Amino acid sequence: MAGGISIDPWSSNQSTDYARMIEQFGLESIDHSLLPNPHMLHRRGIVFAHRDLNLILDAHSSSKPFGVLTGLMPSGRMHLGHKMVVDQVKWFQEQGADVSIAVADLEALATRGLPLDECRKIALGEYVANYAALGLDVENTQVYFQSSRPVVQRLGFMLGKRTNLSEFEAIYGFAGDTNLAHVQAPLVQAGDILHPQLEEYGGLRPIVVPVGIDQDPHLRLTRGIASKTNWFNISKRKSGGLVIGLSVQDENSHALGVGSDGGIDEGRRNWVFEKLGAILTHLGFSDFLANPKHGSIEIPAATGRDRDLIRPSLLQLEREMGGYGLLQPSSTYHQFAIGMTGDKMSSSRPETTIFLTEDVAAMEKKVKSSFSGGQPSLEEHRRLGGNPDVDVAFQYLKYFFEDDDSALAEVESGYRSGEILTGQMKQLCIDKASTYLNNLNEMRDQTAHLVEEFLATDART
Ligand code: TRP
Repeated sequence: MAGGISIDPWSSNQSTDYARMIEQFGLESIDHSLLPNPHMLHRRGIVFAHRDLNLILDAHSSSKPFGVLTGLMPSGRMHLGHKMVVDQVKWFQEQGADVSIAVADLEALATRGLPLDECRKIALGEYVANYAALGLDVENTQVYFQSSRPVVQRLGFMLGKRTNLSEFEAIYGFAGDTNLAHVQAPLVQAGDILHPQLEEYGGLRPIVVPVGIDQDPHLRLTRGIASKTNWFNISKRKSGGLVIGLSVQDENSHALGVGSDGGIDEGRRNWVFEKLGAILTHLGFSDFLANPKHGSIEIPAATGRDRDLIRPSLLQLEREMGGYGLLQPSSTYHQFAIGMTGDKMSSSRPETTIFLTEDVAAMEKKVKSSFSGGQPSLEEHRRLGGNPDVDVAFQYLKYFFEDDDSALAEVESGYRSGEILTGQMKQLCIDKASTYLNNLNEMRDQTAHLVEEFLATDART
């Protein structure tokens, strides 16, 4: 892709040209004024882009079920970057979503070389303990391990039929020497993302996946594969409106009315079209042109938004006929906070981040030596002002510790004007972070007895 950005989910070296990513990967910007009770991460533009979030918002406003699923690799200590994901999950949960969280132990094995029993220890001691402390509702949260949920792996395997090595090369840059466990990881992740829609896991409903922008390649892959499995497509009609078309594949050709000789099995085909007609009538469309031989129905008066209305019924019909009926997942994307040294945050370099179990003295030391946007001398700082955009202490107030927008705005303008000095900014951050870490520590103690309960039954053994 000449001149384009590429996103590599396994590299710590990510582009921060967010506007360009929206453009290049066809994301939509988030308008937080359209969200119910927007979280500070939305209000500040940190959760900045999405795919199909409207499906979730529509379900929310019409009190229909929707779910949230995300996953984390249990590859080390949990830090502030991971907390952002959990905060978003919690926000969706507060808006009414059911929650599934994958412990990505197979991915950690494949990409970080961690044995599964080690992953389990880290997951329970670090991750699930913090999910509980961060306030996820145990009644409505299921944490499971990729390695112990066979349906996720089975689905991943099946979805593999709808992609190939060239697509993996294009999306992930995989080459001939790529380890095959690594090649399987994105398919397992597609299984993670889609399995909550299966009947045993809650059935057909929109599922949103909140992740860092580095994970978008997996969503592109999963969305593409999901739509390739669909038996019915909806596309724009050339002269206005929409067209529903049959997507005949090996597995469904009989069900969709293709005879064993390759010709049309009229009885069967007409039955399918009666079903489709009944769906459209039920949804309130009176004017449609069915062409069973050609395998399509035109709906001239349908608008682009009617697609979202029609699709669930088609997926439901597909399920009744024996297909998976998978809806493309929705997703939201967050930007990354800068690491404390001024470059990338990474759990393998403790000096770049604050761990959720960090003691206050260690945190204080890290903030004091963190990268600053202040001027080299007091006189210059007063005269020119500091730069909060690169100042770790300010950025961490913004991303993690100061939830009051007007307090944050005041600190920001005080810093820009030179009124607030670098040392003062760091102290503000230290004060807020101390309170935060102390509270979290206390919550961890209070919720420790819940850890087992967060685990789905297949994760308890
Ligand atoms: N790949 C994710 C990560 O690095 C973890 C993950 C696994 C995940 N399955 C998922 C994220 C499903 C979102 C949805 O850390």
